[in-house]
Amino acid sequence: MKYNDVTEKLRTKPKKWLVTGVAGFIGSNLLETLLFLDQDVVGLDNFSTGHQHNLDAVKDIVSDEQWSRFKFIEGDICEYDTCQDAVSGIDYVLHQAALGSVPRSIKDPIITNASNITGFLNMLTASKQENVANFIYAASSSTYGDHPDLPKVEDKIGNPLSPYAVTKYVNELYADVFFRTYNFKSVGLRYFNVFGPRQDPEGAYAAVIPKWVSAVKSGDTVLINGDGETSRDFCYIENVVQINILAATSDQLQKNEVFNVAVGGQTSLNQLIVIIKENLRKNSFTDIKYQDFRKGDVRHSKASIEKAIKQLGYDPQYTMNEGLRKMLT
Ligand SMILES: NC(=O)c1ccc[n+]([C@@H]2O[C@H](COP(=O)([O-])OP(=O)(O)OC[C@H]3O[C@@H](n4cnc5c(N)ncnc54)[C@H](O)[C@@H]3O)[C@@H](O)[C@H]2O)c1
Repeated sequence: MKYNDVTEKLRTKPKKWLVTGVAGFIGSNLLETLLFLDQDVVGLDNFSTGHQHNLDAVKDIVSDEQWSRFKFIEGDICEYDTCQDAVSGIDYVLHQAALGSVPRSIKDPIITNASNITGFLNMLTASKQENVANFIYAASSSTYGDHPDLPKVEDKIGNPLSPYAVTKYVNELYADVFFRTYNFKSVGLRYFNVFGPRQDPEGAYAAVIPKWVSAVKSGDTVLINGDGETSRDFCYIENVVQINILAATSDQLQKNEVFNVAVGGQTSLNQLIVIIKENLRKNSFTDIKYQDFRKGDVRHSKASIEKAIKQLGYDPQYTMNEGLRKMLT
């Protein structure tokens, strides 16, 4: 079914959704769209990296009636009872809660493991117990690890390069085994570098786009890891929201699946800084410093999105440039 038809159908027959990690970047954008579609949403977050101001921003832009359809639970997915309460009566789970960042996972693999593996298993188990219609989870392009092929195709992965990548791969293994042993279906969305409004620019583990936008705006030095030829398939948030809704409502999937979520582009860090400056209309001098390559980073990344197009009707509306333009102007 086409995305517009799916959203029309949802409007006329609202569903009950659980968004974990709802106070984070991707979670709060999912919440915004679901409330605009008049859906009932339960959100779960422990504010470890998410913020109350992301929830407040959504409250400000939806109507009072739409906001009244949202129930927030402050809690930790590492507690099974919390997960069980959150999934009660839910149709679709969009599981986003996890600790992101490759360097964070290298510094503290134990804490990343707790949220990303124990928390994931709790959510998967609670969702199976509740018989939710569909369990969609945030997987990651880091699962491709050291596999050299470009573009990345779902069934060819290499060895993980960081503890974070291990956790995201283990999610896929659990999801697979839950299908084979309990017949519980789920969909893993392997996000490539997602960007958009409400992505945190602060802190040591900030993603490259919000960090550089903030640096260029305030005239700070832009730090590039390595020679700047590292490349990524940057994906605007609205494409990610679309595929979550398509995956949750799909009745075409007969088994457990994973899909790449990106646009099929490839932009180097050296190109990215030029594009950000153009979009911000900053022609003035920007101090750029190159530093060491970062441990655990994949060198090149570019997705094949054919599988998502064919099986889910994914139809990304924004190229990287269009997404940046929308976000920055
Ligand atoms: N942003 C990207 O480019 C990207 C790429 C690949 C995968 N992902 C995955 O997408 C998901 C969302 O990422 P994001 O960019 O929105 O990050 P984010 O840090 O903005 O959001 C994650 C949210 O999960 C919450 N959370 C973390 N641990 C929790 C716990 N134990 N209990 C309850 N809540 C918890 C955080 O407080 C935060 O609000 C994550 O699973 C991440 O690994 C993101």
